[in-house]
Amino acid sequence: MRTAICPGSFDPITLGHLDLIRRAAALFDRVIVCVMSNGSKDRGMFPPEKRLQLARLAVAELPNVEAELWTGLLADFCAQRQAQVIVKGVRNATDFDWEYQMTWINRGLGNGPETVLLPAAPEYLWFSSTMAREMIRYGQDLRKYLPSAVAEEIIKGIEDYGEQ
Ligand code: PNS
Repeated sequence: MRTAICPGSFDPITLGHLDLIRRAAALFDRVIVCVMSNGSKDRGMFPPEKRLQLARLAVAELPNVEAELWTGLLADFCAQRQAQVIVKGVRNATDFDWEYQMTWINRGLGNGPETVLLPAAPEYLWFSSTMAREMIRYGQDLRKYLPSAVAEEIIKGIEDYGEQ
């Protein structure tokens, strides 16, 4: 069985992430969305358990996809789940430069998981969780940027995330 990991901070998961996960799910037998912390980013908007809940809502209808929380190294998660591949999306040259470095860091750290970089679909090129958080803060229509179940869940608790 070929298992792929889609890692990220998913703060929150966007339609761009979901497109990538769907494409990974078509390429591999099993996909695990790994909700993690990015040490170089600020504390973010949603606590890890909420990000996991939102990720699970987003992938609920994809039969070979599951989501988990992980606080350690990505390479260790891959080894523990016997995953051979990490899948990341790239929107532009900045993403590529970063993911290229991460590919070789992860390959050197763990049991050598391979990284597959998928180009972001043109319609999601400018999507990011940072942009989604801005939309949430300013009360914009989230359904354009987030999976509908995720948008609904966030709207339910919007007073917790509004302009801060
Ligand atoms: O959504 P992001 O910000 O692109 O996700 C980045 C993430 C969380 C995948 C990356 O920061 C990561 O792999 N963090 C876990 C720690 C780790 O394994 N770091 C690499 C070796 S130092």
